[in-house]
Amino acid sequence: MSESLTLNIGLCGFGTVGQGVWKHLSANRAELESRLGVTLNLARASVRDLKKKRPVKLPARALTDDPLAIANDPSIQIVCELMGGTTLAREVTLAALRHGKVVISANKALICEHGAEIMATAQKHGGHFFFEASVAGGIPIIKALREGLVANRFPRIYGILNGTCNYILTQMEEQDAPYLSVLAEAKRLGYAEADEALDVDGWDTAHKASVLAWLAHGLWVKTDQMIVEGISRITPADFKNAATLGFGIKLLAIITRDFAKNELSVRVHPTLLPEGNVIANVSGVFNAISVTGDIVGTTLYSGRGAGQDATASAVISDIADAAALLRHGKGAHLLGEVRTPPRNGCKLAPPESIRSRYYLRLTVKDQPGVLARVASVMAKHNVSIASVIQSPADVAGAASLVLTTHDSNERSMNKTLKQLRALGAVLDEPLLLRIGDFEP
Ligand code: NAP
Ligand code: HSE
Repeated sequence: MSESLTLNIGLCGFGTVGQGVWKHLSANRAELESRLGVTLNLARASVRDLKKKRPVKLPARALTDDPLAIANDPSIQIVCELMGGTTLAREVTLAALRHGKVVISANKALICEHGAEIMATAQKHGGHFFFEASVAGGIPIIKALREGLVANRFPRIYGILNGTCNYILTQMEEQDAPYLSVLAEAKRLGYAEADEALDVDGWDTAHKASVLAWLAHGLWVKTDQMIVEGISRITPADFKNAATLGFGIKLLAIITRDFAKNELSVRVHPTLLPEGNVIANVSGVFNAISVTGDIVGTTLYSGRGAGQDATASAVISDIADAAALLRHGKGAHLLGEVRTPPRNGCKLAPPESIRSRYYLRLTVKDQPGVLARVASVMAKHNVSIASVIQSPADVAGAASLVLTTHDSNERSMNKTLKQLRALGAVLDEPLLLRIGDFEP
């Protein structure tokens, strides 16, 4: 019998995700090894603070505070970059790829910012870059797009891509819980980024949308080319208004391709979804993605989108792919071989051309004629009102006005907002949300 191949794995980063990988790979190693026909050796891990107490223990000799030592260690074939950030993480990733190693990454910010350079470096030096954990936690959406749906072109992909935000929105909606205490809980549970603004301001969702857009359309879209809005201005009252109108509110990434115009649109914003929409009913840390392919039709994916276990599951699936690749050679490994679709001259659609129905919340002086003035500004910009809800605002002498519109576009709404801000009767910054008339 031939001797089993031993693969040495290094984890750069031993925080929430790194410890999850170590824990679950150690527990399930024997079964995985027998399925893969290799020996998997968790060889080294790096941290910033060697003295920090960690729930998952590992031999002291395995621990270093130098991630580049792992990337450059000739005995290590598989490097998992689980640190986060885009500076040292980039150096570690590129160093390991230049040695022809397999790099496994959960770092969507890095991929969005430096994906083109990373892929080119992998190709030039015979390295491989796997990133299943970078989008939607434990849901195998990268594999679905690259492998299972490879026959298709994708007119629309949309969904919830951030577990922290969905957890916060769900707690606010169902428990009327205050935003800040729910955010603190999401951090305690290991869902949030080290810099939580990446989650709540929409950037993390935008990084993931960029990765999906590249996989589906072959185009790297940067966050400054997208509309990116977060969840921090949504209040419990917005959930009540939305429910009255028959909607839930979710932070969505929406990637649409108009094949006739050859235009791509990528955007991230809180969206009112009809209560009957499956994704409107996905709660807590769960993510959900609807992928419409021109051949298959619409397919749906749901599962835990953040946290130690779900993310470790995705990283370990990449380790299994790396093992298959290293054992059987390049040709045996589909994921590494299938390229993204060619760009084919596809351009980004101007954001102001996006069409939608809208939800507009205004705090206004509770005086005669105010509603008429608001309506006249909207009419001036050809924005047609579909419904109005008026309720008392928290401030004395003020009212909350919630208007929904018929189909309009960003250009008209931006002009409307500009003029409404200038009205003396409008007391604070208006909140504008888009309504997603998606099925399912
Ligand atoms: P984390 O808990 O903050 O862990 C980061 C690890 O990297 C820690 O061990 C930290 O060392 C180490 N590290 C960070 N900066 C370093 C530096 N400059 N030099 C050396 N070591 C450094 O983060 P995480 O939640 O595991 O996330 C890791 C990556 O996975 C990020 O890219 C994140 O976006 C991604 N991700 C996270 C999740 C999730 O649910 N948490 C899900 C999907 C993807 P110390 O422990 O000593 O501080
Ligand atoms: N902070 C991210 C989230 C981690 O909450 O979705 C998973 O990528």
